[in-house]
Amino acid sequence: MKILGVVGSKRKKGNTSCLVQEAIQVAKNEGAETELIFLSDYSIQDCTGCEGCKETFKCIINDDMQKIYPLLWEADGIILGSPTYFYNISADMKAFIDRCYSFEVFAEDDRSCWLSVNEALGGKYAAVIAVCEQQDEKDMGFTPEAMSKPLEALGYRVVDTVKILRLFEAGEALKDNEALKHSRKAGERLVKTIKLRQEVENKIKELKM
Ligand SMILES: Cc1cc2nc3c(=O)[nH]c(=O)nc-3n(C[C@H](O)[C@H](O)[C@H](O)COP(=O)(O)O)c2cc1C
Repeated sequence: MKILGVVGSKRKKGNTSCLVQEAIQVAKNEGAETELIFLSDYSIQDCTGCEGCKETFKCIINDDMQKIYPLLWEADGIILGSPTYFYNISADMKAFIDRCYSFEVFAEDDRSCWLSVNEALGGKYAAVIAVCEQQDEKDMGFTPEAMSKPLEALGYRVVDTVKILRLFEAGEALKDNEALKHSRKAGERLVKTIKLRQEVENKIKELKM
């Protein structure tokens, strides 16, 4: 089982990074093969809407997103983390998500009929972690949904949405036991869900259904 963690903050020792790493570490302890990427290490252009991906499910823009696509194809589960920037996800996370449009497929004669390659492959699983400074959840705005809604459209069932408030200074998350606990739970739930899926797949084979 492969789990990919994606950090959408440029602060490598920031709160999002700490919490995604906490979730990833649990996944590793539970036996998953894990990889953590910081979007700030990659140069990711904005989607141009050229539709050049629609025949092959491959984006034609030749930038660092080409290094991330294989990781997404291989991963059974992903953990996306973003800080709140003005009630929404960071620009890096938005660019990354938009470039996943290459995985969406539309019926030629009716664009209201669509699915994702992940759905065609049987579906995948995800968790999201959103981090903000303010005390009121409304000040987090759309951050969690701005990750979970596209993930669902991309064929991932979001098994946990972690919303962490009141974190400002980089790394403060490491002193926030509740935040760490919620993030660990997300990593654990993600791995357990994928293990359960594998068990059910095996059982179906055994029962020759
Ligand atoms: C450009 C910018 C916009 C922000 N907008 C919000 C906001 O709308 N609501 C909020 O509660 N915090 C906001 N914050 C605070 C960050 O979400 C907070 O400091 C978070 O802990 C940063 O995460 P990081 O350490 O992973 O980078 C903003 C920070 C920046 C730099």
